[in-house]
Amino acid sequence: MNRVLVLGGSIRAKTGNREMVLEMASKVTDVVEYQEVIGNVLSTSSLCNSEIIAGAALAGARMSGAEVEYFPLCHLFPQKDRRVFDLMAEGDDSSLSSLDTLDIDEDALEELLAALDKSQGIVLATPVYFGDRSSVANKFLQLATVRERVRNKIYGVVSVGAKRNGGQETCNIFSLYEMLHQGTFGVGNGMPTSQYGGTAVGGDLGKVVEDEWGLATAFGTGERVAQVSRMVAKGLQNPVKAKTNIVFLLAMDTKNGKLKAHINSLVTEASSKLNGVEFSVINLVEHDIYRCLGCKSCPKDGDVQCEHPQCIIRNPDDYLETARGKLVGADGVIVCGINPSDIGDLVTRYQVFTERMRSVRRNNYELSNTLFAGLCYHDFGATINPIHSLKVMVSYIRHNTVVHKPIEIFEYNGEIMDSGAKGVAAFCEAASILAAGKAQVDIPKATYNAYGEGGGYAQGESSQGK
Ligand SMILES: Cc1cc2nc3c(=O)[nH]c(=O)nc-3n(C[C@H](O)[C@H](O)[C@H](O)COP(=O)(O)O)c2cc1C
Repeated sequence: MNRVLVLGGSIRAKTGNREMVLEMASKVTDVVEYQEVIGNVLSTSSLCNSEIIAGAALAGARMSGAEVEYFPLCHLFPQKDRRVFDLMAEGDDSSLSSLDTLDIDEDALEELLAALDKSQGIVLATPVYFGDRSSVANKFLQLATVRERVRNKIYGVVSVGAKRNGGQETCNIFSLYEMLHQGTFGVGNGMPTSQYGGTAVGGDLGKVVEDEWGLATAFGTGERVAQVSRMVAKGLQNPVKAKTNIVFLLAMDTKNGKLKAHINSLVTEASSKLNGVEFSVINLVEHDIYRCLGCKSCPKDGDVQCEHPQCIIRNPDDYLETARGKLVGADGVIVCGINPSDIGDLVTRYQVFTERMRSVRRNNYELSNTLFAGLCYHDFGATINPIHSLKVMVSYIRHNTVVHKPIEIFEYNGEIMDSGAKGVAAFCEAASILAAGKAQVDIPKATYNAYGEGGGYAQGESSQGK
């Protein structure tokens, strides 16, 4: 059975609300119904906003067929009564009457580790504090025992801040990226928007109940984590896959082709060591990619060859369509970049290619569930392109993909510190697990709808929807 564990990261959560959060999530089939249930609960009890978005993620995971479990992280930390500290003398809110310490309660930790071991998927539900997660959520991410036990698990995040644009996306992106480094597979909130997880707005206790859109993104994150964890669990149980196809996408290089040479040597080494893996290289630097026109009728619903007279996709000089043909059907794509010391040495197609991938996304998410990672070759200390792999995660998770730990290569005084060969091997193994799992589960058909300014939440279509 597929199991998803949702972790509550609020310092205002009450351990006594644990059963109630699970109960709320067990009853509903959509967001509006969930809002009604929460409204009723709030008339007699108090809930913090993270508990409400945690419930939404639990409901989404449950509706996607997963067993669910909820663990409020404040439970890990012994509480001290305010009479000891007398910090909240003016407060009449019982949730503030005690203060979490950051000492670990060992029994609660054992319980958390057991819950982690039983789960294939994890969703962190946290308040936004200064554009980042809470200290309680942070402590969870820093626990060494936790870090050792999350490999091959699917990770998603839902967050709530008091303001719209209050840092929900930065908060989500930070822990998604950090958790990739612990061996998790990162996912977003799935369709329709395919962003970085749940992003909800609510300040006062319970206020997030009014944010239908934000709650929908939390539902979506729960669903997405459940869906991909089912694939990965199947792939781990029965890892049979005839061939795993891995594409190295060279999005930039130095003028003398330093990255190309390094990737070719990685491919040669990996081909000789890894059975059942087939590699291909797409070198964008050797081709022209035109800028995106932001066209309203850009291909969707399978109509790749659109009839628009200015359609650059039909222009034979533009390489996007050829690259698309090679990417669609790959099991894993490594988007390669370089961070050289001299900006004059950089030839890049990365940004223009990434914006042109809009047509691939609009064509019903053709890269859905493909494994992606960034790879970057750094001159040690170079500042031209230091966050390539982070950018790859941020832009390519929007294709409803699954994201893997990046591969970072450093050259210092002409010597390569780590060739990236181990990272490539780990990526290939993960791509093969995911591909085997995909072949064994029913995956809902991906459909694209444009959302954005000018388009409604329920049925919107807009010219600028991305
Ligand atoms: C220390 C602190 C920092 C905060 N920083 C942000 C912020 O950067 N952006 C934001 O939108 N809200 C911020 N908030 C507001 C909380 O994210 C918001 O009230 C949230 O709903 C709290 O979740 P909870 O009810 O689960 O505790 C901050 C609150 C606190 C206490």
